[in-house]
Amino acid sequence: MAERLVTDVLNKPDSQLEATLRPSAFTEFTGQAKVRERLEIAVEAARRRKEPLDHLLLSGPPGLGKTTLANILAHAMGANLRPTSGPTIEKAGDLAGLLTNLEEGDVLFIDEIHRLQKTIEEYLYPAMEDFKLDIIIDQGPNARSVRLNLPRFTLIGATTRSGLLSAPLLTRFPMRERLDYYTAEQLRGIVIRSAGLLRVAIEPDGALEIARRSRGTPRIANNLLRRVRDFAEVRHDGRITRHVADQALAILEIDAHGLDQMDKRILESVITKFGGGPVGVNSLAVAVGEEPDTIEEVYEPYLIMEGYLQRTPQGRIATELGYQRLGLKFISGSAPRQTGLL
Ligand SMILES: Nc1ncnc2c1ncn2[C@@H]1O[C@H](COP(=O)(O)OP(=O)(O)OP(=O)(O)O)[C@@H](O)[C@H]1O
Ligand SMILES: [Mg+2]
Repeated sequence: MAERLVTDVLNKPDSQLEATLRPSAFTEFTGQAKVRERLEIAVEAARRRKEPLDHLLLSGPPGLGKTTLANILAHAMGANLRPTSGPTIEKAGDLAGLLTNLEEGDVLFIDEIHRLQKTIEEYLYPAMEDFKLDIIIDQGPNARSVRLNLPRFTLIGATTRSGLLSAPLLTRFPMRERLDYYTAEQLRGIVIRSAGLLRVAIEPDGALEIARRSRGTPRIANNLLRRVRDFAEVRHDGRITRHVADQALAILEIDAHGLDQMDKRILESVITKFGGGPVGVNSLAVAVGEEPDTIEEVYEPYLIMEGYLQRTPQGRIATELGYQRLGLKFISGSAPRQTGLL
């Protein structure tokens, strides 16, 4: 139950908190140095040419800064950000409405772009390539296609599941960037910055303790900070020391390594159901009751980054560290394999 905290509560955006803590300029955006540098160059070049920024696809697990970057980019371009999301565009007409209301240079931000319907997606192609929109007017025998000119705009698409994007859509993004998990050191910086904005006194060690348990994710770090702050105010004098953070996180039953329930279930399955691997992602998906794409794009990268899991051509393998993490003994190569599943 408590373990679900990380997954269900802490991983959910808290829009008010996020608005307060969301960086609005590159200089406030910690980490992702290479991505940041490429985007800063793209912005500078576009500004010099007085052109809109090229279309950009941002991908990566939840809470790593995709929406934040879209905001920063629009801001840096001096452009308006027009946010929408894949699932809310239900009809081609919805998209046409959005596109025809854009102004020159606007940034259209489509969150969860992988959930855009294929029939609607096709209208995006000419809009992205030539800033044209083909619409059908009238019905029956009078129906005809009309081509409208659109203002030059930038499309920023965000997705946690880039693998689900169709090839035609993917190739229409001249820029594609993938965000990765943050190190504890980077998250510590983010926690300290957020504490400053929330006017919370925090010691570097206290911030590091929160950072370590945040699953490499700024959103989780910010949410944990808020919970630790509550504890520090109620049980102590409000100051977050290492000891206070430790106690608070123990009460919240946050995993010492920041793993959430699904992370643990995946690791456990590889070890106990598949003898430590190698196991293919599809078998693993059946065993844990999650979609293969989600395992590959949301969970696995963190387990691999932390060194608990390895991806090999034969499949996923649990590392010695992975066994240790679950308190199990590592028996290299000789672990018994269960064949019950698949
Ligand atoms: N690089 C960063 N530096 C500082 N804070 C960050 C950074 N990235 C993200 N954050 C913080 O984490 C919060 C969540 O980030 P954001 O909403 O951009 O994630 P996302 O990738 O869009 O997630 P989702 O896939 O769930 O939409 C932001 O409001 C911001 O406070
Ligand atoms: Mg987002």
